[in-house]
Amino acid sequence: MAKKWLGDAVFYEIYPQSFRDTNGDGIGDIEGIVEKLDYVKSLGCNALWINPCFDSPFRDAGYDVRDYKKVAARYGTNEDLYRLFDAAHAKGIRVLLDLVPGHTSEEHPWFRASASADQPNPYTNRYIWTDQWYAGCGDLPYIAGEAERSGSYIINFFKCQPALNYGFLEPRQPWQLPMDHPDVLATREAMKDVMRFWLGHGCDGFRVDMAASLVKYDDGNKSGTCAIWRDVRRMLDAEFPEAVLVAEWCRPDLSLPAGFDADFMLNDPHSHYSALLRDYNSPVDNTYFRKDAPDRDINRFFDVYLKWYAATKGVGHIALPTCNHDTLRPAYRLDAEELKLAYAFLFTMPGVPFLYYGDEIGMRYLELPTKEGGYFRTGSRTPMQWKAGKNLGFSEGDADALYLPVDPASDAPTVEGQEGDPDSLLNTVRALLKLRHAEADLQADGPFEVLCAEKGRPLVYRRGSLTLAVNPSGEKLFTDLEGEVSEALYMRGMADVNAGRLVMGPQSFVVLR
Ligand code: NOJ
Ligand code: CA
Repeated sequence: MAKKWLGDAVFYEIYPQSFRDTNGDGIGDIEGIVEKLDYVKSLGCNALWINPCFDSPFRDAGYDVRDYKKVAARYGTNEDLYRLFDAAHAKGIRVLLDLVPGHTSEEHPWFRASASADQPNPYTNRYIWTDQWYAGCGDLPYIAGEAERSGSYIINFFKCQPALNYGFLEPRQPWQLPMDHPDVLATREAMKDVMRFWLGHGCDGFRVDMAASLVKYDDGNKSGTCAIWRDVRRMLDAEFPEAVLVAEWCRPDLSLPAGFDADFMLNDPHSHYSALLRDYNSPVDNTYFRKDAPDRDINRFFDVYLKWYAATKGVGHIALPTCNHDTLRPAYRLDAEELKLAYAFLFTMPGVPFLYYGDEIGMRYLELPTKEGGYFRTGSRTPMQWKAGKNLGFSEGDADALYLPVDPASDAPTVEGQEGDPDSLLNTVRALLKLRHAEADLQADGPFEVLCAEKGRPLVYRRGSLTLAVNPSGEKLFTDLEGEVSEALYMRGMADVNAGRLVMGPQSFVVLR
């Protein structure tokens, strides 16, 4: 059963290095997040997910953690982060940190000990080492020739990210330890210790990086990895019963019963989710919310979503993000009007919505060279655009010193530029989130049913006493609609109900009671 506070939660994801720089060194900082809490609140967001802000050599932008319990100096100090927890809580905002349990940086002291010539030591089995100095381990990615220790080690993502050892579901070689080996259990306890540390200082939970990646040679249902998360959840239930875990897994049917409160629908290999906002897998761009999509089909999304929704209703939530730091921004494919309809849909669905910083003003994806292991993702990680003028209000430092360049376009969207226009994307986001907070039926646990998902018709869905419809196309569309309608709570474009027929004008959205 997911935590109660998630029922009305709307998250704002902050990439700390790019949000707001308060000391002019060109890198966003914790103080910058504190400064902007009122802004976050003004959007209607009441929870944060902050990407890793821990000590790191930053070869994967902080997902290569060197010290789990220390804030990276470039962002500030631990005290700054504790102060952020307090300031956020005072405004009714919860804070999730990013937990990276699958791997550390190769510079983490655990790994240095594990890789040293001095064997055995307490960290010998903290990582996964083969028994050969030169060759590998079949199908797992390994690095040889880097360590003093005579062996090769398994990595989880980049070369700089050795995989922590949670054991193998069914070991096939002597160097593959079973899940109940004491050294492997010690890894799990070490990760619980990290969680206790931050929860004890006031954080509200974690977004969990690569949550599916713990146990190697796991089976199709991830039984080994799920068993570990159930164990973690037992600890949390006993010690921090309000703590929330959000998985980066994209298998809510597995992750939620294993103890996660929510799981992102994103990063799925078949891009069911991408079909909504950024269809990059098919030869023709059929992004659902694109006005001119030649063959849009919401069922590319629903085919998977509805299956998962049915399987997890009451167990936990499916989290729908506008995008994240690993994907193209939605503005890559959608213009401001299309974004308004896309967000209208995302923010009126069950589960927990996540808004990536800057998507509320339609920040663009920029073509940039890679930074800190970002590769194509770098273009979605540029500084937040607050206002016209120097560095678009991100930093008072020199433009050359910025973590990444700000959008150079003369019409780069900014918060300030959209504040005064009631129909701006920014104010549309605010209006939609306000409606969500006002109507319990629109929130995470409110009922949900699809009424019409046929091609060539408006998409119509019911949330309790409310009927919602969206027509992303450039043409007028209609469908039958049973039952009485008394009022429209929210409308974009034209929508009309007459004699059992719902007519939706081009690019329209409506919430009816
Ligand atoms: C997923 C994170 O979101 C991504 O940014 C990171 O590079 C990998 N996991 C590795 O930790
Ligand atoms: Ca700074």
